Amino acid sequence: MPRRLRFDAILAKLKPAMTRSLPSASRLDVSGYGYQAEELPPAGEAPRPEDDPRLWFDDPNRPFELEIGSGKGTFLVQEAPHRPEHNFLGIEWMMAFWRYAADRARRRGLQNVRMLHADAVEFVRQRVANESIHTFHLYFSDPWPKSRHHRRRVVQDSTLTEFHRVIEPGGTLRIVTDHDELWSWYEEHVDRCTLFEREPYEPCVSAKPGELVGSNFERKFIPEGRHFRGMTLRRKA
Ligand SMILES: C[S@@+](CC[C@H](N)C(=O)[O-])C[C@H]1O[C@@H](n2cnc3c(N)ncnc32)[C@H](O)[C@@H]1O
Repeated sequence: MPRRLRFDAILAKLKPAMTRSLPSASRLDVSGYGYQAEELPPAGEAPRPEDDPRLWFDDPNRPFELEIGSGKGTFLVQEAPHRPEHNFLGIEWMMAFWRYAADRARRRGLQNVRMLHADAVEFVRQRVANESIHTFHLYFSDPWPKSRHHRRRVVQDSTLTEFHRVIEPGGTLRIVTDHDELWSWYEEHVDRCTLFEREPYEPCVSAKPGELVGSNFERKFIPEGRHFRGMTLRRKA
C-alpha cells in the first residue's frame, strides 16, 4: 500500500479520540493560512521552482523555518511573533489539528505563519528546494514504540540525508523528545551521520522558564515530571 494511504488508514483509527476536544470544522476558517498537499498540482520528479513553499509568504526571501508535526500549532503561534523577520511553515498530517492550527494563526493575524496538511517527509522530498531551510523543528515526534513500526519514525538515515539537502549551510535541525528509546534512536542515527555537527540545545525564544519548546505536548507532561531532552544538529557546509 502507498505510504500515504497506509497512514491515512492508521490516522482514521486514532483521530476520533485525539481530536474530540477541537471545534468542529465548520467553525474554523483556514483561508489564507492553510494549504493542503492534496490540492497542490501533482509533484514532479524533483522539487520545481513553482513548488517552493516560500512563495506562500508575503516576503519569500525571509529565512524559512519548517516544523514537522505541529499538532495544534502552539509552538508556531508563540514563536512567530517573536521573530517577525522569519517565515514559519508547520506541517501536520492530522486534518483536525492542521485546521485548528491554521485557524489559530489566522485569528492572530500572523502573516509569517502558514500551515500545510501533508506527510512532511514526503512533502520535503518532493517539493522543498535545496538549501532553502534555515531551521527545522521536530518536537515530540511520535515514538512508534513497536519494532515493526520503527520505519514510521521521522528520523531515518534517509531522512537525515534529505534534511541535509534542504537545510542551508550552517542551518539547523532542532529535536526534542521525552521518549528514552526514541532519544537513543536519534543518537544512533546522528552518530553515524557525518553531515551535521551536534551542538547543545538552546530553548526556543518563546519558551517559558523551565521549558525547552513550550509546545502543547511539553506543557501537558511537565506536571508528570517527565524528562525532556533536546539536540541541535548544524549542517556542515
Ligand atoms: C506527539 S504530537 C506532538 C505535537 C507538537 N509538536 C507538540 O509538541 O505538541 C506529534 C504530531 O506529529 C504529527 N506527525 C507525525 N508524523 C508526521 C508526518 N510525517 N507529517 C506530518 N505530521 C506528522 C502527528 O499527527 C502529531 O500531531
